[in-house]
Amino acid sequence: MNLDSVINFDDMARLAKARLPRIAFDFIDGGVDGETALARNRAGYDRYRLLPRYLVDVQKRSQKTVLFGQEYESPFGICPMGIAGFFRPGADLMLARAAAKFRLPYLMSSASCDSIEAAMAEVPETTWFQIYGTRNPKITDGLVERAKALGVRVLILTVDTPVMGKRERNLRSGFRRPMKMTPGVILQGLGRPGWTWRYLTKGGIPTMENWRPYARAGASANEIADLYGSETPAPGQTWEVLARVRKNWPGPLLVKGVLHPADALRCQELGADGLIVSNHGGRQLDSAPAPIEMLPLIADAVGGKMDLLIDSGVRRGADVAKALCLGAKAVLFGRPAMFGVAAAGEAGARKVLDIMRKELDLCMGQVGWTGVDCAGPDSLIDIHALNNRPVAGASYGGLLPEDMSETP
Ligand SMILES: Cc1cc2nc3c(=O)[nH]c(=O)nc-3n(C[C@H](O)[C@H](O)[C@H](O)COP(=O)(O)O)c2cc1C
Repeated sequence: MNLDSVINFDDMARLAKARLPRIAFDFIDGGVDGETALARNRAGYDRYRLLPRYLVDVQKRSQKTVLFGQEYESPFGICPMGIAGFFRPGADLMLARAAAKFRLPYLMSSASCDSIEAAMAEVPETTWFQIYGTRNPKITDGLVERAKALGVRVLILTVDTPVMGKRERNLRSGFRRPMKMTPGVILQGLGRPGWTWRYLTKGGIPTMENWRPYARAGASANEIADLYGSETPAPGQTWEVLARVRKNWPGPLLVKGVLHPADALRCQELGADGLIVSNHGGRQLDSAPAPIEMLPLIADAVGGKMDLLIDSGVRRGADVAKALCLGAKAVLFGRPAMFGVAAAGEAGARKVLDIMRKELDLCMGQVGWTGVDCAGPDSLIDIHALNNRPVAGASYGGLLPEDMSETP
């Protein structure tokens, strides 16, 4: 299997599996506990069907959308993902470049290996920056300050990690801090010579460069990772962290990891400009609902007043379309992009974005949309609703029999 034979995201995951040692593949792919949230994230999209309209002129279809005052080519982007350099040295910047090529947002994690300074020097237009609240609030402040000085457009505060989930695959594969090349890991690497060669020749354990300024001068990669591990997660953090970031950050601010409509309202009260409805890709609370299940409730609570993004389990163009129908302005995906860059570098990341762009384009043509603003409740059927009734608010052009348009 090679990059040319990849035609969907599952193929890309297979290619990555063939090229990464288990410790790396499982870190990306895994969930927590019994991985039920992972499965739910996919099944959540299956609950909805797209209802096509025909005999619409769909020769011209545009995916363009405006997010926080800036136009992007499509209503999707790449999630923040930490320690990408472990999967391929330089992966963060490769993801940033790939996103810029397609004019899509790339959300750089503060736990990345390349620094936000390096990303902004190369890809200033489409790079956003994600932070966690830290135990020492001065570090959060420092990260915000740096983002401000660099002219980052959008800042994201992730709130769904008060403690780390139990990632069973990491426990089995040998992934732990401080990172060590144990005999077991070396054995895994033997079967993946490309990864191992890059690992050994490009500096070994990657450094979380965003954290270097907060470590002692000359600190090793493991010391910096330990500092990161001692500062995050910060289980004592409260809404105060959002208020503080809001005070220090003048630009668009998103809160990532919101699932409860009441939390969504609280974010709005505290001045957030948008939300990323997310369960961290099923990597935190295994019993959490799928974000797509919560999106309609959150849209009801704050829709219209805040821009909503969603991630976790988005794998097809049709998933993007469904999320837009339910009130999202855009979607994000993580693992497929990481598999792409890990398996084949920047070309792999570009391939993933290209697959999604083309799938969404075909989906729009099938459903009868000329632009993403055509998305709405009338294009969707919720198969869980009693008697296959339409989603709340849909009138299908006022043509429904009266008894069907009533909410059951
Ligand atoms: C390898 C990996 C690292 C991640 N690191 C972060 C991170 O540093 N910050 C964060 O907010 N979310 C992080 N996430 C969660 C993603 O931002 C996102 O919520 C999730 O991957 C979306 O689900 P998907 O991978 O199914 O598309 C990470 C996810 C993965 C797979």
